[in-house]
Amino acid sequence: MRDTIGKKIAAMSLQEKARQLTQLNAVYVQPSTQAKVTGASSPLGLEAQDVYGIGSVLNFTDADEAIAAQTTYLERSESKIPLVFMMDVIHGYRTIFPIPLAMGCTFDEALVEACAEMSAIEATYSGVSVTFSPMVDLVRDARWGRVMESTGEDHFLNGEMGKAFIRGYHKGGLACCVKHFAGYGAPEAGREYNTTDISPRNLKEYYLPAYKACLEENPEMVMTSFNLLNGIPVNADKALLVDTLRDEWGFDGVVISDYAGVIEMLPHGYAPSAKDCARIAANNGVDMEMMSATYIHHLPQLVEEGAVSPKQVDTMLRRVLELKEKLGLFENPFHKANAKKAGEVCLSERHRALAKTAAEKAAVLLKNDGVLPLCETTEIALVGPFAEEKNLLGAWACAGKAEDVTDVRTAVERLLQRKVCTAKGCDASILAMDESGVEQAVLAAANAEVIVACIGEPAAYSGEAAARAKLELPKPQLTLLKALKALGKPVVVVLFGGRPQVLTEAEAFADAILCVWQPGTEGGNAIANLLYGRANPSGKLTMSFPRTTGQCPVYYNAFATGKPKALDTLEGSGYNSSYRDELNAPLYPFGYGLSYTKFEINDVCLSKTEFCRGDTITASVTVKNVGERDGEEVVQLYIRDLFASVVRPVKELKGYRKILLAAGETKRVSFEIDEELLKFYAADGTWRAEAGEFEIMIGNNSVDVLKARLTLKI
Ligand code: NOJ
Repeated sequence: MRDTIGKKIAAMSLQEKARQLTQLNAVYVQPSTQAKVTGASSPLGLEAQDVYGIGSVLNFTDADEAIAAQTTYLERSESKIPLVFMMDVIHGYRTIFPIPLAMGCTFDEALVEACAEMSAIEATYSGVSVTFSPMVDLVRDARWGRVMESTGEDHFLNGEMGKAFIRGYHKGGLACCVKHFAGYGAPEAGREYNTTDISPRNLKEYYLPAYKACLEENPEMVMTSFNLLNGIPVNADKALLVDTLRDEWGFDGVVISDYAGVIEMLPHGYAPSAKDCARIAANNGVDMEMMSATYIHHLPQLVEEGAVSPKQVDTMLRRVLELKEKLGLFENPFHKANAKKAGEVCLSERHRALAKTAAEKAAVLLKNDGVLPLCETTEIALVGPFAEEKNLLGAWACAGKAEDVTDVRTAVERLLQRKVCTAKGCDASILAMDESGVEQAVLAAANAEVIVACIGEPAAYSGEAAARAKLELPKPQLTLLKALKALGKPVVVVLFGGRPQVLTEAEAFADAILCVWQPGTEGGNAIANLLYGRANPSGKLTMSFPRTTGQCPVYYNAFATGKPKALDTLEGSGYNSSYRDELNAPLYPFGYGLSYTKFEINDVCLSKTEFCRGDTITASVTVKNVGERDGEEVVQLYIRDLFASVVRPVKELKGYRKILLAAGETKRVSFEIDEELLKFYAADGTWRAEAGEFEIMIGNNSVDVLKARLTLKI
């Protein structure tokens, strides 16, 4: 096999090689648009013959179009090496599942895997061979719009979820690309594309592990991130892309830049010319350039001048060709593209059913004074900008269409088999301040027994280039909520959004809050089932909900200061680490989420309280469903290393179990703890556990935990 690729490489000119290391958008390859984007004066300065040599294309969404494009490409290309089609299949292809942040809240790897597999089946029949997913950036600042693509503020959970996504994609025959390597999730002030400054220890211990964990499942590609990391653009960061990713972790797949990331070394002020961008990226670990053309324009000359070695170019090329070989493109350049089969699987009953289950399990019940679940005979009013909204898909909805979505009103009316009173009240925009619809909405709701307010953040306000400086509910929505509550009836908030939002003021006007995120194609049906108790909420937050935007970044696995302060009081705000005007604790913490039943966790027990290297001990608790409904609970294990050569976080998630308990049922849940689980980068830089005492905490969120002490003897 190697020989075949070696022969192909040997037969190619430098120019052909440089083209093969380039990925362009579909518009370059589509006959209808190509003329507009090529020619000497076009943005990338590419000619049609360059396009017919590129290695990859992104954003084709139709099998027949992909087949036609590949056919024309192969007819016109000199090297006859097929294109590989890539796409952001992030949370579904045509059937859209909840956003990844929501999927994380399921704490259910099997479910994540199943959704990824279905996404893969739809995508591959539609002509896609590689997805730019999973995104496993650690995210701690809800102002950043791309938190919706991550599974949250815990690197261990992100690694587990990332692996589940990859397993699912692979089962469905789709290759995948882990992104964004690395540190993109820590932009200063949450502002999109902003600088990240992460200490080497912090990077190694908290930001990198989820990417490393993903490599266990053999993803085919890794995407570099846009950001400056400690002063160096990631596309120039040899320590990260070569020393760590290749040499230390052994990754031998393709490293691709993000969209125009290579040429962005110009505005960063790192490279003086496009030619330098090409030289720097090629010499520091970027195999393929996405949507800029510095390799095409400059790589051949750089090789001739000795600035990039021919061997380096061949190594980069070999990785790209090996990917194509693995996908079988040399035998069948169309991979699985098949419009008929795509038509059969996309939005099939099975896929919709799974999307509904996922949306039910991803929802997090944040508050419930007893009004939920609703009784089917109760007269309700469905109010708010999301009551009849069809776009419940969220950002990165791929080939998903709002027209495929069952909105909340339709779903509720179908479930109840009668009409319900509905009013919009105001727009969901975070910028429009028009409150003129509030009065009419209040009038419409006046005769209802319970009001369901569908409010929050529309899809356009999270995702890429969608940072927010204010996470509070927009004023018109708050005005609407207050006016509805003034009617003196129970108000249920159904909260839509792609990030944690600030609900501190809104909470007082809501008797229940169900956070449904951006729930996807089956969102409406899932919400109806949840509201009426046909599904029981079981989601747990994977990102803390701040009390105010000024708390950001706020996350559970932080360090204690030398002047600690109780999280839940403003009293005694003296010389301690606190705010004068706000508590330290978030409004809703990591791991938190209610159910329609109630669970009690008791009897924390360690099989031994002292253990030595090589021992495994068991930590267990009894979990009882003391309510009247069956329900799922996520039992969470946290550990704190009480004293160490490096200060350890106040707690770290080390394990979780999601269990189903029938009403009245009790189960013993146990976790194994060994030395491996207690390791960290010690002061001398080695990865090891240090002897001493550990606090073992088990609970159903990161705050309410039972504690036990464990001693590691060396
Ligand atoms: C830019 C985004 O940052 C990245 O996540 C995505 O995969 C590429 N564009 C391709 O769409």
